[in-house]
Amino acid sequence: MTVEYAKKTVADVPVDGRRAFVRVDFNVPMDQSGHILDDRRIREAFPTIQYLIKHGARVILASHLGRPGGKPNPAYSLRPVAERLQTLLGQPVEFIPEAVGPVAESAVQRLLPGQVALLENLRFYPGEEKNDLGFAEQLAKLADLYVNDAFGTAHRAHASTVGITKFLPAVSGFLMEKELRTLGNALESPKRPLVAIIGGAKISTKIDVLNHLLPRVDRLLVGGGMANTFLKAKSLNVGKSLVEEDRVSVAKQIMSQAGAKLVLPVDVVVAERVDPTALPEVMAIDQIPGDKMILDIGPKTVDVFAQILQNAGTVIWNGPLGVAEIPAFAEGTLGVARALAQSKAISIVGGGDLVGVLEQLGIAEQMSHVSTGGGASLEFLEGKILPGVAALEDRT
Ligand code: 3PG
Repeated sequence: MTVEYAKKTVADVPVDGRRAFVRVDFNVPMDQSGHILDDRRIREAFPTIQYLIKHGARVILASHLGRPGGKPNPAYSLRPVAERLQTLLGQPVEFIPEAVGPVAESAVQRLLPGQVALLENLRFYPGEEKNDLGFAEQLAKLADLYVNDAFGTAHRAHASTVGITKFLPAVSGFLMEKELRTLGNALESPKRPLVAIIGGAKISTKIDVLNHLLPRVDRLLVGGGMANTFLKAKSLNVGKSLVEEDRVSVAKQIMSQAGAKLVLPVDVVVAERVDPTALPEVMAIDQIPGDKMILDIGPKTVDVFAQILQNAGTVIWNGPLGVAEIPAFAEGTLGVARALAQSKAISIVGGGDLVGVLEQLGIAEQMSHVSTGGGASLEFLEGKILPGVAALEDRT
Protein backbone atom coordinates (compact mmCIF):
# COMPACT_ATOMS: atom_id res chain seq x y z
CA MET A 1 0.00 0.00 0.00
CA THR A 2 1.27 3.43 -0.83
CA VAL A 3 -0.02 6.74 0.43
CA GLU A 4 -2.08 8.55 -2.19
CA TYR A 5 -0.32 11.72 -3.32
CA ALA A 6 -2.95 14.40 -2.86
CA LYS A 7 -1.46 17.35 -4.75
CA LYS A 8 -1.50 18.10 -8.47
CA THR A 9 1.90 17.79 -10.10
CA VAL A 10 3.40 19.41 -13.12
CA ALA A 11 2.32 16.33 -15.11
CA ASP A 12 -1.35 17.15 -14.40
CA VAL A 13 -1.38 20.54 -16.15
CA PRO A 14 -0.56 21.83 -19.64
CA VAL A 15 2.94 23.31 -19.78
CA ASP A 16 3.67 23.64 -23.50
CA GLY A 17 4.71 27.20 -24.32
CA ARG A 18 3.82 28.38 -20.80
CA ARG A 19 6.11 30.33 -18.53
CA ALA A 20 6.60 28.12 -15.48
CA PHE A 21 7.87 29.77 -12.28
CA VAL A 22 9.62 26.88 -10.54
CA ARG A 23 10.46 27.41 -6.87
CA VAL A 24 13.49 25.23 -6.20
CA ASP A 25 15.67 24.95 -3.10
CA PHE A 26 19.16 25.73 -4.39
CA ASN A 27 20.29 26.72 -0.90
CA VAL A 28 23.51 24.75 -1.32
CA PRO A 29 26.63 24.84 0.86
CA MET A 30 29.37 27.06 -0.60
CA ASP A 31 32.85 28.03 0.49
CA GLN A 32 33.89 31.68 0.78
CA SER A 33 34.93 31.92 -2.86
CA GLY A 34 31.48 30.80 -4.04
CA HIS A 35 32.52 27.25 -4.83
CA ILE A 36 29.60 24.83 -4.39
CA LEU A 37 30.51 22.08 -1.92
CA ASP A 38 27.51 19.83 -2.54
CA ASP A 39 25.17 20.07 -5.54
CA ARG A 40 22.66 17.38 -4.51
CA ARG A 41 19.82 19.89 -4.28
CA ILE A 42 20.53 21.09 -7.82
CA ARG A 43 20.69 17.58 -9.26
CA GLU A 44 17.54 16.49 -7.45
CA ALA A 45 15.53 19.20 -9.22
CA PHE A 46 16.43 17.77 -12.64
CA PRO A 47 13.41 15.53 -13.23
CA THR A 48 11.10 18.57 -13.02
CA ILE A 49 13.38 20.87 -15.01
CA GLN A 50 13.96 18.29 -17.72
CA TYR A 51 10.28 17.45 -17.93
CA LEU A 52 9.44 21.12 -18.45
CA ILE A 53 12.18 21.55 -21.07
CA LYS A 54 11.01 18.45 -22.96
CA HIS A 55 7.41 19.63 -22.92
CA GLY A 56 8.21 23.07 -24.30
CA ALA A 57 7.80 25.21 -21.17
CA ARG A 58 9.79 28.40 -20.59
CA VAL A 59 11.49 27.58 -17.32
CA ILE A 60 12.01 30.33 -14.72
CA LEU A 61 13.83 28.94 -11.68
CA ALA A 62 13.78 30.79 -8.37
CA SER A 63 15.42 30.06 -5.03
CA HIS A 64 16.88 31.54 -1.89
CA LEU A 65 20.49 31.11 -0.82
CA GLY A 66 21.49 31.60 2.80
CA ARG A 67 19.99 34.30 4.99
CA PRO A 68 20.96 37.68 3.49
CA GLY A 69 18.23 39.40 5.53
CA GLY A 70 16.09 41.01 2.82
CA LYS A 71 18.81 43.00 1.06
CA PRO A 72 21.24 42.33 -1.79
CA ASN A 73 24.57 40.83 -0.79
CA PRO A 74 26.97 39.53 -3.45
CA ALA A 75 28.18 36.79 -1.09
CA TYR A 76 24.73 35.20 -1.45
CA SER A 77 24.31 35.61 -5.20
CA LEU A 78 22.90 32.62 -7.08
CA ARG A 79 25.20 33.28 -10.06
CA PRO A 80 27.56 30.38 -9.18
CA VAL A 81 24.53 28.12 -8.93
CA ALA A 82 23.41 29.12 -12.44
CA GLU A 83 26.89 28.22 -13.70
CA ARG A 84 26.86 24.81 -11.99
CA LEU A 85 23.34 24.15 -13.23
CA GLN A 86 24.35 24.98 -16.79
CA THR A 87 27.27 22.54 -16.60
CA LEU A 88 25.21 19.74 -15.10
CA LEU A 89 22.24 20.31 -17.39
CA GLY A 90 24.36 20.60 -20.52
CA GLN A 91 22.38 23.53 -21.90
CA PRO A 92 22.53 27.30 -21.41
CA VAL A 93 21.01 28.71 -18.21
CA GLU A 94 20.50 32.46 -18.24
CA PHE A 95 21.23 34.11 -14.92
CA ILE A 96 18.86 37.05 -14.33
CA PRO A 97 20.43 39.44 -11.79
CA GLU A 98 17.02 40.50 -10.39
CA ALA A 99 14.03 38.46 -9.17
CA VAL A 100 11.28 41.04 -9.91
CA GLY A 101 10.89 44.29 -11.85
CA PRO A 102 11.55 45.38 -15.44
CA VAL A 103 14.91 43.58 -15.84
CA ALA A 104 13.44 40.26 -14.75
CA GLU A 105 10.24 40.82 -16.72
CA SER A 106 11.95 41.56 -20.01
CA ALA A 107 14.43 38.69 -19.55
CA VAL A 108 11.64 36.15 -19.04
CA GLN A 109 9.71 37.60 -22.01
CA ARG A 110 12.67 36.70 -24.23
CA LEU A 111 12.76 33.06 -23.09
CA LEU A 112 11.81 30.57 -25.81
CA PRO A 113 10.11 27.22 -25.19
CA GLY A 114 12.65 24.82 -23.66
CA GLN A 115 14.92 27.60 -22.41
CA VAL A 116 15.93 27.97 -18.77
CA ALA A 117 16.70 30.99 -16.58
CA LEU A 118 17.54 31.38 -12.90
CA LEU A 119 16.49 34.51 -10.99
CA GLU A 120 18.68 36.19 -8.37
CA ASN A 121 18.27 35.26 -4.69
CA LEU A 122 14.66 35.80 -3.56
CA ARG A 123 15.84 36.77 -0.07
CA PHE A 124 17.49 39.92 -1.47
CA TYR A 125 13.95 41.33 -1.17
CA PRO A 126 12.31 42.03 2.20
CA GLY A 127 8.91 40.88 0.89
CA GLU A 128 10.04 37.28 0.43
CA GLU A 129 10.31 36.14 4.04
CA LYS A 130 7.41 38.38 5.09
CA ASN A 131 5.18 36.56 2.61
CA ASP A 132 4.26 40.01 1.29
CA LEU A 133 1.45 39.72 -1.21
CA GLY A 134 2.68 42.68 -3.25
CA PHE A 135 6.03 40.98 -3.73
CA ALA A 136 4.32 37.66 -4.44
CA GLU A 137 2.23 39.35 -7.14
CA GLN A 138 5.36 40.80 -8.73
CA LEU A 139 6.88 37.32 -8.86
CA ALA A 140 3.66 35.92 -10.29
CA LYS A 141 3.75 38.52 -13.11
CA LEU A 142 6.72 36.64 -14.55
CA ALA A 143 4.79 33.43 -15.25
CA ASP A 144 1.58 31.60 -16.19
CA LEU A 145 2.08 28.63 -13.89
CA TYR A 146 3.67 28.04 -10.47
CA VAL A 147 5.54 24.83 -9.67
CA ASN A 148 6.88 24.17 -6.18
CA ASP A 149 9.77 21.71 -6.19
CA ALA A 150 11.45 23.17 -3.08
CA PHE A 151 10.73 20.51 -0.49
CA GLY A 152 13.61 21.88 1.60
CA THR A 153 11.76 25.20 1.95
CA ALA A 154 8.22 23.82 2.25
CA HIS A 155 8.15 24.55 6.00
CA ARG A 156 8.54 28.30 5.32
CA ALA A 157 5.46 30.42 4.55
CA HIS A 158 7.19 32.91 2.23
CA ALA A 159 6.08 34.90 -0.82
CA SER A 160 7.62 32.37 -3.23
CA THR A 161 6.23 29.32 -1.41
CA VAL A 162 2.78 30.50 -0.26
CA GLY A 163 1.88 34.06 -1.36
CA ILE A 164 2.45 33.41 -5.05
CA THR A 165 -0.11 30.60 -5.08
CA LYS A 166 -2.83 33.26 -4.72
CA PHE A 167 -2.02 34.53 -8.21
CA LEU A 168 -1.14 31.48 -10.32
CA PRO A 169 -2.28 27.89 -10.78
CA ALA A 170 -0.02 26.07 -8.30
CA VAL A 171 1.24 22.50 -8.58
CA SER A 172 4.12 20.49 -7.19
CA GLY A 173 7.26 19.33 -8.94
CA PHE A 174 8.51 15.76 -9.00
CA LEU A 175 11.08 16.17 -6.22
CA MET A 176 8.41 17.55 -3.90
CA GLU A 177 6.17 14.63 -4.86
CA LYS A 178 8.96 12.08 -4.28
CA GLU A 179 9.88 13.49 -0.87
CA LEU A 180 6.29 13.62 0.36
CA ARG A 181 5.47 10.19 -0.98
CA THR A 182 8.58 8.57 0.49
CA LEU A 183 8.30 10.18 3.91
CA GLY A 184 4.51 9.79 3.91
CA ASN A 185 4.72 6.07 3.11
CA ALA A 186 7.33 5.55 5.79
CA LEU A 187 5.03 7.01 8.40
CA GLU A 188 1.63 5.86 7.19
CA SER A 189 2.11 2.46 5.56
CA PRO A 190 5.69 1.34 6.10
CA LYS A 191 7.19 -2.02 5.40
CA ARG A 192 7.62 -3.26 8.99
CA PRO A 193 9.38 -3.42 11.30
CA LEU A 194 9.68 0.37 11.17
CA VAL A 195 12.77 1.60 12.98
CA ALA A 196 13.65 5.23 13.68
CA ILE A 197 17.19 6.31 14.50
CA ILE A 198 17.24 9.73 16.10
CA GLY A 199 20.47 11.53 16.92
CA GLY A 200 21.74 15.09 17.07
CA ALA A 201 23.03 17.22 19.87
CA LYS A 202 19.90 18.28 21.71
CA ILE A 203 16.80 16.45 22.84
CA SER A 204 14.91 19.77 22.99
CA THR A 205 14.89 20.02 19.18
CA LYS A 206 13.68 16.43 18.79
CA ILE A 207 10.91 16.11 21.38
CA ASP A 208 8.10 16.66 18.87
CA VAL A 209 9.66 14.12 16.50
CA LEU A 210 10.04 11.54 19.27
CA ASN A 211 6.43 12.03 20.35
CA HIS A 212 5.09 11.78 16.80
CA LEU A 213 7.20 8.74 15.91
CA LEU A 214 6.77 6.77 19.09
CA PRO A 215 3.27 5.38 18.40
CA ARG A 216 4.23 4.61 14.79
CA VAL A 217 7.60 2.88 15.06
CA ASP A 218 8.48 -0.61 16.23
CA ARG A 219 11.89 0.43 17.59
CA LEU A 220 13.36 3.82 18.40
CA LEU A 221 17.15 3.96 18.51
CA VAL A 222 18.62 7.06 20.14
CA GLY A 223 22.21 8.31 19.95
CA GLY A 224 24.11 11.58 19.69
CA GLY A 225 24.28 14.23 22.40
CA MET A 226 20.54 13.94 22.99
CA ALA A 227 21.00 10.41 24.35
CA ASN A 228 22.91 11.91 27.31
CA THR A 229 19.73 13.43 28.70
CA PHE A 230 18.11 9.98 28.60
CA LEU A 231 21.13 8.46 30.36
CA LYS A 232 20.89 11.18 32.99
CA ALA A 233 17.20 10.40 33.34
CA LYS A 234 18.24 6.83 34.15
CA SER A 235 20.36 8.30 36.97
CA LEU A 236 23.63 7.41 35.26
CA ASN A 237 26.69 9.58 35.75
CA VAL A 238 27.44 11.27 32.41
CA GLY A 239 30.47 13.28 33.54
CA LYS A 240 30.97 16.55 31.65
CA SER A 241 28.63 15.51 28.81
CA LEU A 242 26.12 17.88 27.29
CA VAL A 243 22.87 17.39 29.20
CA GLU A 244 19.68 19.44 29.04
CA GLU A 245 18.76 19.39 32.73
CA ASP A 246 15.39 21.01 32.06
CA ARG A 247 14.47 18.13 29.73
CA VAL A 248 15.32 15.25 32.03
CA SER A 249 11.67 14.94 33.06
CA VAL A 250 10.55 14.84 29.38
CA ALA A 251 13.14 12.12 28.76
CA LYS A 252 11.71 10.15 31.69
CA GLN A 253 8.20 10.52 30.29
CA ILE A 254 9.29 9.37 26.81
CA MET A 255 11.11 6.39 28.37
CA SER A 256 8.07 5.27 30.27
CA GLN A 257 5.83 5.64 27.20
CA ALA A 258 8.28 3.87 24.92
CA GLY A 259 9.06 0.88 27.13
CA ALA A 260 11.05 -1.75 25.22
CA LYS A 261 10.74 0.18 21.93
CA LEU A 262 13.41 2.60 23.06
CA VAL A 263 17.01 1.51 22.58
CA LEU A 264 19.71 3.64 24.22
CA PRO A 265 23.49 3.33 23.97
CA VAL A 266 25.09 0.59 26.06
CA ASP A 267 28.58 1.96 25.60
CA VAL A 268 30.02 5.28 24.43
CA VAL A 269 33.18 6.99 23.24
CA VAL A 270 34.36 9.64 25.69
CA ALA A 271 37.15 12.23 25.73
CA GLU A 272 38.18 15.18 27.85
CA ARG A 273 37.01 17.75 25.31
CA VAL A 274 35.46 18.18 21.86
CA ASP A 275 38.70 18.35 19.95
CA PRO A 276 40.27 16.36 17.10
CA THR A 277 43.41 15.90 19.22
CA ALA A 278 41.56 14.58 22.31
CA LEU A 279 42.12 10.92 23.12
CA PRO A 280 38.96 8.87 22.49
CA GLU A 281 38.18 6.04 24.94
CA VAL A 282 35.38 3.48 24.90
CA MET A 283 33.42 3.12 28.16
CA ALA A 284 30.34 1.26 29.35
CA ILE A 285 27.60 3.77 30.14
CA ASP A 286 27.77 3.08 33.86
CA GLN A 287 31.49 3.82 34.03
CA ILE A 288 31.84 7.36 32.74
CA PRO A 289 34.34 9.34 34.82
CA GLY A 290 33.42 12.81 36.03
CA ASP A 291 36.07 14.57 33.91
CA LYS A 292 35.04 13.05 30.54
CA MET A 293 32.29 13.77 28.07
CA ILE A 294 30.33 11.47 25.75
CA LEU A 295 31.10 12.23 22.09
CA ASP A 296 29.94 9.13 20.20
CA ILE A 297 28.17 5.81 20.63
CA GLY A 298 30.49 2.88 21.27
CA PRO A 299 31.14 -0.31 19.24
CA LYS A 300 28.78 -2.50 21.31
CA THR A 301 25.98 -0.01 20.70
CA VAL A 302 26.76 -0.09 16.98
CA ASP A 303 26.36 -3.89 17.13
CA VAL A 304 23.06 -3.63 18.99
CA PHE A 305 21.74 -1.09 16.47
CA ALA A 306 23.10 -3.15 13.53
CA GLN A 307 21.27 -6.25 14.75
CA ILE A 308 17.98 -4.36 14.82
CA LEU A 309 18.61 -2.81 11.39
CA GLN A 310 19.31 -6.20 9.86
CA ASN A 311 15.68 -7.22 10.34
CA ALA A 312 14.10 -3.82 9.70
CA GLY A 313 11.67 -3.22 6.84
CA THR A 314 11.93 0.58 6.88
CA VAL A 315 14.39 2.84 8.66
CA ILE A 316 14.03 6.58 9.17
CA TRP A 317 17.23 8.26 10.36
CA ASN A 318 17.60 11.87 11.46
CA GLY A 319 20.66 13.27 13.20
CA PRO A 320 24.26 12.02 13.61
CA LEU A 321 25.08 9.67 16.50
CA GLY A 322 28.19 11.50 17.67
CA VAL A 323 30.28 14.60 16.99
CA ALA A 324 30.76 13.13 13.54
CA GLU A 325 32.53 16.09 11.95
CA ILE A 326 35.56 14.97 13.98
CA PRO A 327 36.81 11.63 12.57
CA ALA A 328 37.60 10.16 16.02
CA PHE A 329 33.93 10.57 16.97
CA ALA A 330 32.40 9.57 13.62
CA GLU A 331 32.84 5.80 13.99
CA GLY A 332 29.41 5.27 15.53
CA THR A 333 27.59 7.12 12.75
CA LEU A 334 29.73 5.37 10.13
CA GLY A 335 29.20 1.91 11.66
CA VAL A 336 25.43 2.37 11.77
CA ALA A 337 25.42 3.77 8.20
CA ARG A 338 27.35 0.70 7.01
CA ALA A 339 24.93 -1.63 8.77
CA LEU A 340 22.00 0.21 7.24
CA ALA A 341 23.55 0.07 3.76
CA GLN A 342 23.98 -3.70 4.14
CA SER A 343 20.44 -4.32 5.39
CA LYS A 344 17.50 -4.89 3.06
CA ALA A 345 15.54 -2.11 4.73
CA ILE A 346 14.21 0.92 2.89
CA SER A 347 16.51 3.58 4.35
CA ILE A 348 15.39 7.19 4.55
CA VAL A 349 17.87 9.72 5.87
CA GLY A 350 17.24 13.39 6.45
CA GLY A 351 18.53 16.46 8.23
CA GLY A 352 21.31 18.68 6.95
CA ASP A 353 23.87 17.57 9.55
CA LEU A 354 23.45 13.85 9.06
CA VAL A 355 23.31 14.04 5.27
CA GLY A 356 26.47 16.19 5.27
CA VAL A 357 28.26 13.61 7.41
CA LEU A 358 27.10 10.69 5.26
CA GLU A 359 28.23 12.55 2.12
CA GLN A 360 31.60 13.19 3.72
CA LEU A 361 31.91 9.53 4.69
CA GLY A 362 30.99 8.60 1.10
CA ILE A 363 28.04 6.45 2.13
CA ALA A 364 25.03 8.68 1.33
CA GLU A 365 24.48 7.09 -2.10
CA GLN A 366 23.93 3.71 -0.45
CA MET A 367 20.75 4.92 1.24
CA SER A 368 17.38 4.39 -0.50
CA HIS A 369 16.34 8.01 -0.05
CA VAL A 370 18.38 11.02 1.03
CA SER A 371 15.99 13.84 1.79
CA THR A 372 16.80 17.31 0.47
CA GLY A 373 14.99 18.75 3.48
CA GLY A 374 16.63 19.66 6.76
CA GLY A 375 14.07 21.60 8.78
CA ALA A 376 11.34 20.53 6.35
CA SER A 377 11.91 16.80 6.84
CA LEU A 378 12.07 17.29 10.60
CA GLU A 379 8.75 19.17 10.61
CA PHE A 380 7.23 16.48 8.42
CA LEU A 381 8.35 13.82 10.92
CA GLU A 382 6.82 15.94 13.68
CA GLY A 383 3.50 15.57 11.87
CA LYS A 384 3.26 19.27 11.04
CA ILE A 385 1.52 20.60 7.96
CA LEU A 386 4.07 22.22 5.66
CA PRO A 387 2.63 25.55 4.44
CA GLY A 388 4.36 25.30 1.04
CA VAL A 389 2.59 21.99 0.44
CA ALA A 390 -0.77 23.01 1.86
CA ALA A 391 -0.88 25.95 -0.59
CA LEU A 392 -0.73 23.69 -3.68
CA GLU A 393 -3.79 22.55 -5.61
CA ASP A 394 -5.35 19.26 -4.62
CA ARG A 395 -5.88 16.46 -7.09
CA THR A 396 -9.58 16.11 -7.66
C1 3PG B 1 17.29 24.61 4.43
O1 3PG B 1 18.48 24.58 4.04
O2 3PG B 1 16.92 23.97 5.42
C2 3PG B 1 16.31 25.36 3.61
O3 3PG B 1 16.85 25.83 2.44
C3 3PG B 1 15.64 26.46 4.40
O4 3PG B 1 16.55 27.44 4.74
P1 3PG B 1 16.23 28.43 5.96
O5 3PG B 1 16.34 27.61 7.23
O6 3PG B 1 17.25 29.52 5.88
O7 3PG B 1 14.81 28.93 5.78
